[in-house]
Amino acid sequence: MTKDFYGKLAAIRHEIHQHPEISEREVETTAYLKKKISDLGIRILDSQLPTGLIAEIGQGQPIIALRADIDALPIKEKTGLAYASQNEAMHACGHDFHQTSLLGAAELLKQREAELSGTVRLIFQPAEENFQGGHQVIAAGGLEGVSAIIGYHNNPHLKPGQLGLRSGAIMAGVEQFEVRVKGSSAHAARPDLGIDTVLTITTMVNSLQSIIARTVSPFDSAVLSVTHIDAGTTWNVLPDSGFFEGTIRTFNPEIRQQVLERFNTIVKNTAEQFGAQAEIKWGNSPRVTYNDEQLTPLIFENSKKFAEVLEVEPSTGGEDFAAYQEKIPGVFAFVGSNGDEHAADWHHDDFIVKDEALPVAVNYYVENALFLLDYYQKS
Ligand code: NI
Repeated sequence: MTKDFYGKLAAIRHEIHQHPEISEREVETTAYLKKKISDLGIRILDSQLPTGLIAEIGQGQPIIALRADIDALPIKEKTGLAYASQNEAMHACGHDFHQTSLLGAAELLKQREAELSGTVRLIFQPAEENFQGGHQVIAAGGLEGVSAIIGYHNNPHLKPGQLGLRSGAIMAGVEQFEVRVKGSSAHAARPDLGIDTVLTITTMVNSLQSIIARTVSPFDSAVLSVTHIDAGTTWNVLPDSGFFEGTIRTFNPEIRQQVLERFNTIVKNTAEQFGAQAEIKWGNSPRVTYNDEQLTPLIFENSKKFAEVLEVEPSTGGEDFAAYQEKIPGVFAFVGSNGDEHAADWHHDDFIVKDEALPVAVNYYVENALFLLDYYQKS
């Protein structure tokens, strides 16, 4: 990457970073991206997406999609950076960096449009943080005709210049649960006259912890955390109802199924044991980000051209890129973006992505798009 091009991309990222917009409100961001993309002479598809955009370079089959997410978080920035956010939101997950690198890749691919053996589809995806955007893009026809999709997330625990990959699960399947328990109120001195909501809930919470410990193989992994309990208002009354919520993370679709079944059984049986009623509500959250086992080793090798490629452990975070991988083969990587010992994690108010990570991110899109176009052209 030339020094001039690097400088231009860094400036674009700083500009986007200063004007973050949260999920499904990426209106100015979309307008900004549309302007940049049409200034490059790249055609924008009429996708009907409320925010975000889809564009194409080249023509015909195969089609390879490159995806970057564009939304920010409702967090007040405390990095003290010269280009810090100018409003109440913050690009605390580095999606400013993702979209900038896709703009950079778009410019380089446009310059080489004549040599493309097919089409590169650029997906600037809205609403990753609330897990709506992937579904919106699919509903808008964003994957139609696409052979494979690639995407990445910046990773502050890897250094600029590094790229992390693995076949199979690279990010967790996320479940968000909420359990409402209905008992029957009674005086604390006469529990026999009611149904104890507090004891029902705490028994459930205890038993749920046995799921991972006693049903998941020691060679596999999963996490279950109850993070919020609410029941009762005072010391001498047993409450009528209460609730608790939390999350489950899994890395294997079969284990996910097992854990969910066990969860349902425990909640149902515990409620029954105490004569209470329980209702479980599951949130809309992403499945496992599961890297295609055929394509990933190829992308791993090809990426050695421009990065130090490492085989990484999966992250327990979730990513709505999983929605695409349920439809078509996809590869999701981690691009090293900080690497300092005390670098803040995603979603922290002092989270910092280094500009120096831009070349690997741009090359990841460009080199792997070119590679996959040839791969699918031949197959
Ligand atoms: Ni993110």
